[in-house]
Amino acid sequence: GRVAVMLGGDSAERAVSLNSGNAVLKALLSAGVDAFAFDTAERQLTDLISEKVDRVLIMLHGRGGEDGSMQGALQQLGIPYTGSGVLGSALSMDKIHTKQIWQCLQLPTAKYEIAVKSRFEAGSCGAIMNKLGGKVMVKPAREGSSIGMAKVTSAKQLETAIQDAFKYDNQVLVEQFIDGREFTVSVVQGKALPSIRMSTPHTFYDYSAKYQDNTTEYFCPSGLSDEQESTLAQLCTDAFDALSATGWGRVDVMQDSQTEQFYLLEANTVPGMTEKSLVPKAAAAAGISFQELVLAVLATSME
Ligand code: DAL
Ligand code: MG
Repeated sequence: GRVAVMLGGDSAERAVSLNSGNAVLKALLSAGVDAFAFDTAERQLTDLISEKVDRVLIMLHGRGGEDGSMQGALQQLGIPYTGSGVLGSALSMDKIHTKQIWQCLQLPTAKYEIAVKSRFEAGSCGAIMNKLGGKVMVKPAREGSSIGMAKVTSAKQLETAIQDAFKYDNQVLVEQFIDGREFTVSVVQGKALPSIRMSTPHTFYDYSAKYQDNTTEYFCPSGLSDEQESTLAQLCTDAFDALSATGWGRVDVMQDSQTEQFYLLEANTVPGMTEKSLVPKAAAAAGISFQELVLAVLATSME
């Protein structure tokens, strides 16, 4: 069948999506799949019908592509697509609802407060800082690639960071900062791939540490004991399932350096797929080539 690789779009992660989508397209073409690039910023969805598309491989990151709205539109058009459905996509895009669900199921995630634009009071920042231990991450509820995020250590900085995050979303997550090591677990067709540990000299694993400079170190195998590795894999597949996420994705986690406890950060239902991205790195460590990985992702459209 004919495959449209959806890429680009008009989210804040457009540039990342173009890189992911083009890498995926190249792999599909070299595997002999009849595929073409479909930039949702330039095309009408009804073109999928006139182009006689049989399946869509969604490589759109962020809102409009990863949040359930595109998934709903494709469902209405009757075209199978890769990855999570409407609910799993919408929940995973939203870091606040993600944490609420994990909390309900007693899956470990750091303490947090929510700031809502229409009723935010700068005067509340001091109390929030005290409640969350004086070191916090500020995140727009529905963004990706660390866009709009900041790490802050004072009430004054918190106010600025929240106002900044309101440029991206009306709801902002203020999360206790977990001092420790950062891990990610890729999930493909229900199975966890080996974890990766990321280490950055930046204040946190931000946009430039992710894409723009070469200072981030990646460890895969990540250095966990076999027991910790399987605990982490179980935690991440449980966390993924809890959100109704399916097919493939990636769950990000912090490990407290004192207690070694893992804390779930978020799930990504369309994680980066450039040849340098995390899921391809984890696949490589499991002996799965980039092309095999892309074909496995495509196969999730038939589940
Ligand atoms: N949001 C980016 C693309 C990621 O999770 O890899
Ligand atoms: Mg994310």
